Amino acid sequence: SVVIVNRRIVYHLNASYAQNSSSIVLINNQMPAPLIEAELNDILVIHVTNNLPENQRFVIHFHGMHVRQTPQMDGVAFVTQMPIESQQSFTYVMRAYPAGTYFYHSHAGLQSATAFGALIVHDRRQDWNTTEVSTGPLLFSDLWFSPDRITQENGLLASPFVWQGEPTYLLINGKRDFVLTVDPGKKYLLRLIGSTTLSTVVFGIDEHPMTVVEVDGTLVQPKGNVQSIELSSGQRYGVIIETNSQSKGIFLMQLAIRWRTLVNGSSCTGILRYSTYTSALPTNLSSLTLPTLATNDELRLFAFNNPYQNFLSINQMPARAADREIFFYTLQAHTSDGLGMRWLINNASLDEYRLLNLTQPLIYDIYNGFESNLPSDITYTIKQNQLIDIVFQNTVATNGVCETHPFHLHGHKFWVHSRGTGMYTSSSTQTPNTDNPVLRDSLTLYASSYDNLSPNRSTTNYLQPCGWIKIRFLADNPGLWLLHCHIGSHLFMGMAVLIKEDTEHLCMNFLSQN
Ligand code: C2O
Ligand code: CU
Repeated sequence: SVVIVNRRIVYHLNASYAQNSSSIVLINNQMPAPLIEAELNDILVIHVTNNLPENQRFVIHFHGMHVRQTPQMDGVAFVTQMPIESQQSFTYVMRAYPAGTYFYHSHAGLQSATAFGALIVHDRRQDWNTTEVSTGPLLFSDLWFSPDRITQENGLLASPFVWQGEPTYLLINGKRDFVLTVDPGKKYLLRLIGSTTLSTVVFGIDEHPMTVVEVDGTLVQPKGNVQSIELSSGQRYGVIIETNSQSKGIFLMQLAIRWRTLVNGSSCTGILRYSTYTSALPTNLSSLTLPTLATNDELRLFAFNNPYQNFLSINQMPARAADREIFFYTLQAHTSDGLGMRWLINNASLDEYRLLNLTQPLIYDIYNGFESNLPSDITYTIKQNQLIDIVFQNTVATNGVCETHPFHLHGHKFWVHSRGTGMYTSSSTQTPNTDNPVLRDSLTLYASSYDNLSPNRSTTNYLQPCGWIKIRFLADNPGLWLLHCHIGSHLFMGMAVLIKEDTEHLCMNFLSQN
């Protein structure tokens, strides 16, 4: 077959407020935003226009794309580009790489709660991708009715701190009653996308066990008979379901929240409808059976005891010792300078105030070298081809609760190296959880850890260590990368650092093709 290289795929995205709203940001006036699809290595050309009112900035991050040699296309305001001001536009140009299930979202304030869409990069070489029928992706999100987004943003940085509140609803593809129509007797590939900004969610479909084949875009050894699957903010899974030939024809899907509670309703239900079911859908769904969702502890045990294994040997973790280990001690604290509440990593915080008040020239200026402009307390410099281990240490927050933090690294995938309870020390177990741990881009630092399943996560011991995870990655992608908790409010309150990676080896010629 003919291989077309450098195919350019063009999209136009337009940010504006939802009708009659002065805070809800939509892309192309829809939620989810349009599906972006490409073949592996296509060149994506995405024209973005900010039609929000004055002073409302906009920027898009393509979550999980490596933007190799184009780190200025990573969409992080003040870090890789200046934000797109009202009535301005910006064109993102990048290779569609790697293949798999991804998404894109606003990376400005809390806009991503409503400004997000799926990004699928197809790879024709993968069998499972061509033999299964693919449905549209399922995007999971959380939605607040009040307070509005801007009030939430102001409250989070205020002194005293005002919590944004719990989400009102969970949604599947922007709906509380999403219907997915399939044919009986087939295999379907479902792409599940954790596009929530706060909630960790669990998803299942009654009578349709799932076989997981892809994790954050990485092909894994198929893991069958999975009844329910947990996604924290930023995570994705590709799963295969088989439709049977029963006459029943409709089945409940359920999306439930974990660790938290919703303001209205305890979960979101959708319907898997066979095309052979032609009657009207029942108005009262209580006659249908809910899927059996695993408990919190079962899910956590699953995540740690049944780790996903990479399918392709090229994705195998190097066994050699790391060249460098970086330790991140996370904590929540009231700032001493009266700014309010912040999330910190090694005692530093990269909150929105700080980004807005950075001294000139701004840190996005990668062309002129940004060495002297980067705030040293949030910048970690790594060198070409170093094998880097990062340890995230969890601690008890100011309210006495140990929270979960889904960490996401831009520009890379990483291996899930190891994890443990309590405080990490260099003599803590160095044992990877498998010899072939999965390569992914978003991983949950749990509130506790796999062997401490106490149902009561709370303690009055503020700052007590409560578990750690270690990830490993290879420094093979020069750029300035954000590494952060993917919970929107935590990121907004500063839970982020910069990885300044081998920037001497950026090839600037490629950048000019835009
Ligand atoms: Cu999807 Cu910086 O995040
Ligand atoms: Cu967090």
